[in-house]
Amino acid sequence: MDWEKSAAAWIEAQGEHGDFSRRRVLDAPMIERVRACRPRRLLDLGCGEGRFCRLLDSMVAECVGLDPTPSLIARARDLGGAHFVEGRAENLPFESASFDVVVSYLSLLDIEKIDAALDEVRRVLHPGGHFLIANLTGFATAADIKGGGWSVRADGSREIVVQRYLEPHAILSEWKGISVTNWHRPLSFYMRALLDRGFQLCHFDEPAVVNPGHPKEAAYNNAPYQQIMEWQVPSL
Ligand SMILES: C[S@@+](CC[C@H](N)C(=O)[O-])C[C@H]1O[C@@H](n2cnc3c(N)ncnc32)[C@H](O)[C@@H]1O
Repeated sequence: MDWEKSAAAWIEAQGEHGDFSRRRVLDAPMIERVRACRPRRLLDLGCGEGRFCRLLDSMVAECVGLDPTPSLIARARDLGGAHFVEGRAENLPFESASFDVVVSYLSLLDIEKIDAALDEVRRVLHPGGHFLIANLTGFATAADIKGGGWSVRADGSREIVVQRYLEPHAILSEWKGISVTNWHRPLSFYMRALLDRGFQLCHFDEPAVVNPGHPKEAAYNNAPYQQIMEWQVPSL
């Protein structure tokens, strides 16, 4: 399993506070959305080494992190801050209607059997529950940015070339010693898949860098790498 082989490099790359996208783009709006949901019991799907669970610690009565990568779950348990379970999104070891919020923080693109995983998210959320997603944009994964989707124009400037956008496909992502398979899917795939399962969209954003003046700001704000979506299961 490629995530297990990359676990040590991942832990090193995230450090205590997470990488740039997490610290400077996603954490603040994701925490704001969780706080607004006022969850009692929350599941972080594909929690990795558990950093986001620890950020939520004081906000949620019961935070559960789930991940299939043994070394990442072991690291999460060492650092604490939540109850950590080894398991896969497509076969959740939880009772139906047992969570108020499910979070997927940059993990949907790592899940191959996405239809089974979305069925499971729908099953474990209770009526009125929220599914909060941070995902890479489809145009970022279609350009395979981390695998070198950049091309150089005649004047030396760089551009991202988007290819096969509408066609779901596997991509190899490699950075900082991490080498994993991701799954490119267009935005329409996720919209249809969630609408088909009865979810209702209640929030959508393409967040900008939260630190004006940072050297990475121009690239991140030129074409956002991430989207945030929040979907709700209708109340009974
Ligand atoms: C990019 S990391 C994100 C980790 C964490 N959510 C974060 O933002 O730091 C993707 C995670 O998805 C997990 N993953 C891969 N396949 C999965 C599956 N079938 N079900 C649940 N998680 C999975 C990996 O083990 C990895 O920890």
